[in-house]
Amino acid sequence: MAGPVSMPVIGTVFQWYALATQKNCLQTMQAIIEPHWPQLSRLSLLNRLYVIVNDADHLEKVLRDRDLTTKPWFFYGPLKGVLKDGIFTNNGSTWEAHRTAITPAFHRQVLEGYAEILKEESLKITNDISNFIGTDLDCREIMTRCTSLISVRTMFSSSIDKEDQTDVDELVEEIDRIVTNINQRSVNPLLWPDWIYERTQMYQKEIEFGGKATKLIERIVHRKTTEINQRATWSQTAKLGCKDKKSLLDMLVERKLMGELDMTAEDILIEATTMFGSAIHTPPLTATFILKVLSLRPDIQERVYAEICNVFHEEQKEWSYDDLSRLQYMDRVINEALRMFPVAPFILREVKKDMEIDNKHIPAGTVLMLNLMGVHRSARYHKNPLHFDPDRFLPERAGDFHPYSFLPFSSGPRNCVGQPLAWMMVKTLLVTTLRAFEIFPAADGVTDPSQFEVNMDLMINYVGGAKVRLVPRKASLAARE
Ligand code: HEM
Repeated sequence: MAGPVSMPVIGTVFQWYALATQKNCLQTMQAIIEPHWPQLSRLSLLNRLYVIVNDADHLEKVLRDRDLTTKPWFFYGPLKGVLKDGIFTNNGSTWEAHRTAITPAFHRQVLEGYAEILKEESLKITNDISNFIGTDLDCREIMTRCTSLISVRTMFSSSIDKEDQTDVDELVEEIDRIVTNINQRSVNPLLWPDWIYERTQMYQKEIEFGGKATKLIERIVHRKTTEINQRATWSQTAKLGCKDKKSLLDMLVERKLMGELDMTAEDILIEATTMFGSAIHTPPLTATFILKVLSLRPDIQERVYAEICNVFHEEQKEWSYDDLSRLQYMDRVINEALRMFPVAPFILREVKKDMEIDNKHIPAGTVLMLNLMGVHRSARYHKNPLHFDPDRFLPERAGDFHPYSFLPFSSGPRNCVGQPLAWMMVKTLLVTTLRAFEIFPAADGVTDPSQFEVNMDLMINYVGGAKVRLVPRKASLAARE
């Protein structure tokens, strides 16, 4: 199989060294892959093979295979300090049972009840943003605070008290550093052994962060459990069984109480932590990339804004799930942003039984690195791939590209379980921001989305922050008149 020179035991040591030491991990990966692209290429270390999958047909074969749902320690192990052993990082029968229990919490009937909460929480970001008028601002932190509160109020159907608010603020401030630490450990084999990693400052920070997150989620889960227990005791006829319209936490706690759920109280706590950790960071990441694009493409911004005005014409209008669904041009803009800037540039799977891809033997134990960003940005699959064109997602152009050349939420049994809520969150952040502000370019010399400098910190990130200038809508209208 094609790939850089590999030596016995130490394998492709120079490439690991480059990944661990060079500033831009994504560029380093691209440089490793490029000479062999689009074929399978390989890295190796300590007799383990890491195979990079770059072709849409091969991605389809892997992602559709129910025997290839195992996530390796590489990348996912280091995440356990924060996401614990929940469905994001777990494998096997526990993953399967917990995933089955969690999935109904993202059905449409449940999400329909969330639109007003999303509106209420997101309206608060306009105040926070107002403090930065006239400056170059990356809205991600403000938006992460918002999605954290939305997550607590929706998935956990919990109110938020002062103590929760303080914990959320502290977590949001720390999250970038923790994500960077986890990424650094993932790509640096010297930090893989626990006995080395546990002696580092990074580990200390991770423990502090994990402790704060656990404290917050524990308090919320305890509150919810007490509330549900009381409800069941008060009412002889308490109908706890209807899971159709229940939030994630209500559903898990109630089903456990009724003996329907094979999960311990500790499992519920862990899964709640996983869902919180998975939900808060990614929608703001996508929304801020989109704001950055809109700042450079007034033509697209105008269309998005016109559509928002059309759906949310009255200031006081209550929001519904259907309103958000009617924003179809915005759907295309989000899809196009996720194509060019996928939150997860790579995802990984561990091969459990010997297999073949493209007539190449892949032994058990191999780690497959699925290059999602590679297919998203490839001219093999997408015409003019570095041009930001939302209309490539028009329904009538649906057949234009290979379905496995666009995988922002992955696909198959381990796809993103939170996708429907993620979609609502991104739309909500955009609606609120664009209704209040017009978006202008930051003074950073960037003039087109193709020039965005991106890196990989587990997830994609905009080097230096996706900064824009926001001007209150009324002020910007007055300036034009
Ligand atoms: C724009 C926002 C989001 C994007 C682009 C996104 C994307 C993804 C991707 C690509 C995966 C596959 C990861 C892998 O295989 O390594 C994934 C998995 C997952 N996502 Fe999301 N996600 C988003 C938001 C959310 C939200 C809001 C939640 C929670 C409500 C969530 C919960 C999860 C979970 C729990 C998994 C693991 C599923 C499993 O392994 O069974 N995600 N997501």
